Amino acid sequence: MKTNFYKLLMILSLVIGLGGCATAELTSTPSLYDRLGGKPAIQAVISDFVDMVGGDTRIQNEKVGAKLAAIDINQLKTHLVDQVCMAAGGPCTYTGRDMITTHKGLGITTAEFNWVVDDLVKTLDKYKVPAQEKGELLALLGPMKNEIVEIP
Ligand code: HEM
Repeated sequence: MKTNFYKLLMILSLVIGLGGCATAELTSTPSLYDRLGGKPAIQAVISDFVDMVGGDTRIQNEKVGAKLAAIDINQLKTHLVDQVCMAAGGPCTYTGRDMITTHKGLGITTAEFNWVVDDLVKTLDKYKVPAQEKGELLALLGPMKNEIVEIP
């Protein structure tokens, strides 16, 4: 009698356990990284985005212009891809400098920050990234404003 009770208990826990797994599988949302289309999609967006920022005539900041002319743009793109990939839950590690050190002394204004975000939105729209994913990505990057803007 006791053995039957334990058997029943084991079967029940197995059924509940498996049911739990199946439910978790059905309801869990893929990471933002996967929904964006993985690394190739992020690379395409970032490459176009950096090119657009480089040609954005609204940004007249001479220090920013001089920096962008002096650095290896492909390395900047690689670092940005890793940063976005990692923040979106992808299998990447960002190895660049922190946002305060990177942008220190460039005198970046709030308006310039907003124009850069505007360029990113335009690029995401060009690649038809849906509103949900666009919103999630912008929400990940938005809080970095405090570390990047020096002139409110
Ligand atoms: C959320 C917004 C931004 C993010 C996530 C971001 C991220 C980055 C990253 C990852 C790097 C490369 C760091 C490294 O290689 O170690 C970088 C470099 C740079 N960023 Fe930004 N950035 C943002 C906004 C801006 C804005 C608004 C400007 C100017 C208007 C700007 C100008 C630059 C410049 C000039 C560099 C090169 C600095 C150097 O290599 O010394 N960034 N940024």
